[in-house]
Amino acid sequence: MTTVTWTSAGLQCAAAWLSAAGHNPPKRIEVVDDQLDADTAHRFASEGTAMLWHGDYQSAKLLLQALARRVERSAGKARPAASITEAFHKHRMTQAQRSRILGMILLPVEAGFQIALKRAPDVAEAFEQVFGAEAKALPQALIALREVQGLIGAYEWRKKGVEIPVLGARIHPWHGIFSPVRGEYLELIAKADLPKAISEDPKAFAFDIGTGTGVIAALLAKRGIKKLVATDIDDKALACARDNLQRQGCIPKVKLEKADLFPQGKAALIVCNPPWLPGKPGSSIENAIYDPDSRMLKGFLAGLTAHLVPGGEGWLILSDLAEHLGLRSRAELEALFAANGLRVAGRLNARPTHPKARDENDPLSAARGKEITSLWRLTALPA
Ligand SMILES: C[S@@+](CC[C@H](N)C(=O)[O-])C[C@H]1O[C@@H](n2cnc3c(N)ncnc32)[C@H](O)[C@@H]1O
Repeated sequence: MTTVTWTSAGLQCAAAWLSAAGHNPPKRIEVVDDQLDADTAHRFASEGTAMLWHGDYQSAKLLLQALARRVERSAGKARPAASITEAFHKHRMTQAQRSRILGMILLPVEAGFQIALKRAPDVAEAFEQVFGAEAKALPQALIALREVQGLIGAYEWRKKGVEIPVLGARIHPWHGIFSPVRGEYLELIAKADLPKAISEDPKAFAFDIGTGTGVIAALLAKRGIKKLVATDIDDKALACARDNLQRQGCIPKVKLEKADLFPQGKAALIVCNPPWLPGKPGSSIENAIYDPDSRMLKGFLAGLTAHLVPGGEGWLILSDLAEHLGLRSRAELEALFAANGLRVAGRLNARPTHPKARDENDPLSAARGKEITSLWRLTALPA
């Protein structure tokens, strides 16, 4: 556990640093309270000085909102980007800076995950789900208010779940695990014709590579596939998938396995929904959005032929947003298929229906408006 230190009234203080997003602790901390005005807070935060709040919890929330308005105002003054690719990189930088500045209001947390402030909410269960029962005994810790709000949101999200119409059930995403809020790729998986190698052979396997919440494995089980192996590289994703697959009564059919991409053996259907954009994640929350150097996409395509039985199919779920942002070309994607001995046997497309696709204030709306999500049906070329 990382320790963070600061000085208060001439005394050296230390506490454990809590960050579910994997952010580093700030280098400088000033102790502040309700007397602090928003302009000074904005100056402190922009200079990299975090503020340890000793006032009222609700006032801290108001200060955070005032900070957010100031950050938005300065972002609005930036010169327009010359291309959509530049707009994307600028957008990421602005988002990272926003997150850095808004992460500068810190709250004290005492043993039992109690936020030691007036009018603070009860966060004990939400924190325990993410930081574990051991961390509950920490006598003194610090956490950014913004993370507290994120953890409260994630706790509610996990409890309530997300309705998945094609599954006819709710999926409960855990904190930091990719949430299947965009339903269009699931609709494609629900309607694509199953390869005969699996529909006519009840003993044939399907693999779900990078299962996340387990939603794709649950959907394939619902489509009648009796033997599935779902992998993930992240232990928390596997625990989340187990929770969801248990709720769906799928566990006897689905074996969960920790693996870097493929499990041992071969399958008649192998589905993978890698992160859709090549790039470095800025925090652990972005792991499901950005695929560094397209490692997962390239690894999936490189290993697919060796893991398919004759007549089997690989289903790659990928949006073309990266193409509209100038981050990957269609020719590069097709070259990857060919280089790995794969043939495109078909492609099903869907337009995203999520509200961001129509948000004209989004600096990437020009690219999002053209986005298409595809299920690429890939088969092995004869050797
Ligand atoms: C975009 S999410 C998709 C999750 C889920 N399949 C879905 O469609 O909702 C990608 C998932 O792949 C996992 N992952 C990333 N790299 C992996 C690897 N090398 N091997 C296995 N899983 C990986 C991540 O942990 C994450 O859960």
